[in-house]
Amino acid sequence: MRVVKLVSFLVLSLVFACNSAKKERSLNEVSKFNIENILKNNVEKIKTVAQTYTRFDSFPRHVNKNNTQWSFVKTTDWCSGFYPGMLWYAYEYSGDEGLKKQAVNFTEPLKVIAYSSARNHDIGFQLYCSYGNGYRLTGNQNYKEVLLAAADTLATLYNPKVGSILSWPSQIKRYKHNTIIDNMMNLELLFWAAKNGGDKSLYNIAKSHAEQTMKHLVREDGSAFHVGSFDIETGAFLQGYTHQGYANESMWARGQGWGIYGFAMAYRETGDSNFLNTAIKLSDKFLERLPEDGIPFWDFDDPKIPNVPKDASAAAVAACGLMELSGLVQDEKLKSKYFNAGKTLVENLSSSAYLSHAKNDALLLHSTGNHPKNKEMDVPIIYADYYYMEALLRLKKLENI
Ligand code: GLY
Repeated sequence: MRVVKLVSFLVLSLVFACNSAKKERSLNEVSKFNIENILKNNVEKIKTVAQTYTRFDSFPRHVNKNNTQWSFVKTTDWCSGFYPGMLWYAYEYSGDEGLKKQAVNFTEPLKVIAYSSARNHDIGFQLYCSYGNGYRLTGNQNYKEVLLAAADTLATLYNPKVGSILSWPSQIKRYKHNTIIDNMMNLELLFWAAKNGGDKSLYNIAKSHAEQTMKHLVREDGSAFHVGSFDIETGAFLQGYTHQGYANESMWARGQGWGIYGFAMAYRETGDSNFLNTAIKLSDKFLERLPEDGIPFWDFDDPKIPNVPKDASAAAVAACGLMELSGLVQDEKLKSKYFNAGKTLVENLSSSAYLSHAKNDALLLHSTGNHPKNKEMDVPIIYADYYYMEALLRLKKLENI
């Protein structure tokens, strides 16, 4: 009898021990997020990959399916500035001189964009992520000159009749004067230039552009159109479209992220509370509709959800915007709300489901570039990594660690 009792005791203890270990593992999974470890690992990976590059006239953009290395694009590609920008963030965190050297090597070939005629609004992404971060971290006066020239070049796309920048001159036939939600991000270059020796009119251009975007691209329900179409002569708003989303009226995930970040930044630069309220409205809509794992599908309204790809880049952009917003709202409850939402997005991206680890040269898996064109579907994309690094650094600063 004693032996039977002893055996049952041992079996029960074993079951208990196994269950506690399981519970501990899942608690570990939740509490495992350690920002220092994540940043160290990311920077190590970025450094290892960057060391292998000896040509600086093309720039990582995405990792194709069945490949492990970045595919490269030309200087003129809208994504050319993100890789140097990410190298600058990695240098900012580590102080590593090798990373700085590669950041400089990949930044300087982009100068030509500032002194060529404007192809589109992407000048902001291309130059502010590369030269902008480079100038912020080094104070290099040559970089400042390039940034001021880039702002002037971007401003040539402004149409005073509409009161906004023509985002895509190549799409005039299809959309007339078009202003896209992504363009909100590139106003930062204009606001910066107006404060740093550039023409003061750059501030007015940026503010007017944000006002037109707010009035015509942000919908009543807090979602945003991707593209606004305007009459070139009269400036009248004609129609909202999508270009990379599911449908004209749908909520394209990355566009919503650009809007959150762009309007928070526009409020920071102007103090206009309408921009703050717009950033809040876009954020609330985004957060209210997030799926269970906290990372958006590529478009919130794709009827095939959940059998469609995610967009980690949208989560990374929104995380930066939400953390920016948390520093701008006065109400303590709202501060915590947007800070926690931004932090949760970063934690979710830092989970094993989204980190690339040794699978390829990128930091993050699962971004979607252009679903309607079946391009960059569920792959690593450079701007996801760029904004992910930015979000981690923002989080570190906000948590003061
Ligand atoms: N600016 C283009 C995109 O977000 O895909």
